[in-house]
Amino acid sequence: MDLPRSFVIRESSHRIHDPLTGEKLATLGRALRLPPEARVLDLACGSGELLCTWARDHRITGTGVDISTAFIGRARARATELGVADRVGFVHGDAGGHVADEPVDVASCLGASWIGGGVPGTVRLLQRSLKPGGIMLIGEPFWRRRPTEQDAVTGCHVDSVDDLLLLPGLVEQFGALGYDVVEMVLADQDSWDRYRAAQWLNVRRWLDTHPDDELAAGLRAELDTAPARYVRYEREYVGWGVFALMRR
Ligand SMILES: C[S@@+](CC[C@H](N)C(=O)[O-])C[C@H]1O[C@@H](n2cnc3c(N)ncnc32)[C@H](O)[C@@H]1O
Repeated sequence: MDLPRSFVIRESSHRIHDPLTGEKLATLGRALRLPPEARVLDLACGSGELLCTWARDHRITGTGVDISTAFIGRARARATELGVADRVGFVHGDAGGHVADEPVDVASCLGASWIGGGVPGTVRLLQRSLKPGGIMLIGEPFWRRRPTEQDAVTGCHVDSVDDLLLLPGLVEQFGALGYDVVEMVLADQDSWDRYRAAQWLNVRRWLDTHPDDELAAGLRAELDTAPARYVRYEREYVGWGVFALMRR
């Protein structure tokens, strides 16, 4: 059970595996006005940047769960680097059924709502770990502009135009699930670039040093087209944001 190696290669330099920059993640941490010692559960935590930096900046404690051994290893190294290894811990595993032993103040899943089979299922999963009055964080894509051609939908790495909502529709979906949206931090095109464009240099450097690897031909072909595909489609059509929710 591990994340396919191609993802680890593409995101080898990333501390944040989503379209938020470190500044935006810090803005979110400040916006939530977390009390010291707040307990946070982060499902599909990637390399643990949310937990590690919020432990440093806001004195939270927490646990991250991720299926990638590489990312969990980096999360533990980052916790040591920031001097917060006594405040945050990281578990390698499938987060799909993970529920905290004790209810937490904040339960999050940024950029991985498939672990609950979509937004409603992930909301239900996170709710099972939350204290009454706790805050849920969901990081999710939406259409900035709804494409009219299937080429554009596919170019955005989406199967069907109905797989994403426009931003108002996504916000209304949280309401329909019984939650108040109490904060949000959205990506913009520049922060999307930090996520996607940074992958191209990672792939190019890896290709230069691993020409005979079994993944080389596929990643070479991907790099030939990924930048143009991104600026033509995803950068124009897809938005992304983290939404803070409280149950009504
Ligand atoms: C888009 S990244 C987001 C990572 C992190 N939340 C962040 O925003 O930096 C998706 C993450 O989901 C993890 N993942 C995918 N399926 C998973 C599963 N079933 N259980 C736990 N983690 C999973 C991947 O390893 C990856 O770290």
